[in-house]
Amino acid sequence: MKVYRLPQAAGIDSLTLCEEPTPTPGPYQVLVRVRATSLNFRDLMVVRGAYGRGGLRTNLVPLSDGAGEVEAVGDGVTRVQPGDRVAGIFMQRWIGGAITPEASASALGGAIDGMMADHVVLNQDGLVRIPAHLSFEEAATLPCAAVTAWHALVEHARITAGDTVLIQGTGGVSIFALQFALAMGARVIATSSSDEKLARARAMGASEGINYRAVPEWQEAVLAATEGRGADHVVEVGGAGTFARSLQAVRLGGKVSLIGVLTGQAEMNPTPIMRRLINVQGIYVGSREMFEAMNRAIALHMLRPVIDRVFAFDDAKAAFRLMESAAHFGKIVIRHG
Ligand SMILES: NC(=O)c1ccc[n+]([C@@H]2O[C@H](COP(=O)([O-])OP(=O)(O)OC[C@H]3O[C@@H](n4cnc5c(N)ncnc54)[C@H](OP(=O)(O)O)[C@@H]3O)[C@@H](O)[C@H]2O)c1
Repeated sequence: MKVYRLPQAAGIDSLTLCEEPTPTPGPYQVLVRVRATSLNFRDLMVVRGAYGRGGLRTNLVPLSDGAGEVEAVGDGVTRVQPGDRVAGIFMQRWIGGAITPEASASALGGAIDGMMADHVVLNQDGLVRIPAHLSFEEAATLPCAAVTAWHALVEHARITAGDTVLIQGTGGVSIFALQFALAMGARVIATSSSDEKLARARAMGASEGINYRAVPEWQEAVLAATEGRGADHVVEVGGAGTFARSLQAVRLGGKVSLIGVLTGQAEMNPTPIMRRLINVQGIYVGSREMFEAMNRAIALHMLRPVIDRVFAFDDAKAAFRLMESAAHFGKIVIRHG
């Protein structure tokens, strides 16, 4: 089988295509024929060697997100059978409930080998069935970005009809947040560096679009669009460059889901969090239970992930380069086989 490995994490050109024997599933394990994978910003950090504190394993197989079909099962497998259409869950050991240290150390394409291969062997507990109306390419976008957006909007913010959600940029997490917020009857304000991308976000249903390059004090525009009240929930992916403004853009007693650090890390002033009674919650993807609940909503509302471009497996480095350019809208996908 074909598999990409990272002998060392020194940039996109470190990705090395290898030929290896197809693995055999042991007890409680499942052999998945991977049909598609998708990229997250974190995967770019992984190939750059800029992800995690402890350094990466050598020869890691990258990518957390993939979907395919069950090809064979080992002894004792009861959750799936050959032919089932499945996706891997981001943290292989976070099934439900509160996260544990073991669960947080079981992320595909980080702590353990990921999905960037023709075949992978996963424990039966680390899989979910994918919604029937989705292609493998579409389903491959769900495990990280979509579950993260779901966790933020549903588990943390408990968004309800009429709420206002602020999304930052038009990458994978933010566009899923847009789709889920609309499905729940919320109003969405989007920011982006690009007027063209804002037009696309509005065409999908966003009420307002603010160009954060043209309007650096975009939090003022959010306040103006909400009659001075502020957004009920901010899906915060910017990090140091956006967090202080997010604390001004959210309403008194509102919620900020802290998801990304696209603009790096910095010291912060905690006072507005206290004075404005803001509920700031760190989000790290989500559990299998969250993934399954999200899949029910996706199936019910016939939601389709927004895919910017699909690359061939042999052209996977170009997929990483597109992510690096930040020219994409929504998700970047690699088709396998
Ligand atoms: N905590 C978690 O569990 C978790 C899960 C998934 C992702 N993340 C993190 O969340 C972030 C987004 O991930 P992703 O995979 O969605 O990335 P992505 O698809 O690469 O999206 C990046 C987009 O973010 C926007 N952006 C960049 N700088 C911005 C700024 N200063 N203000 C507003 N928007 C800005 C840009 O959108 P425009 O081109 O429209 O300006 C850019 O295209 C990353 O930091 C990632 O590591 C965390």
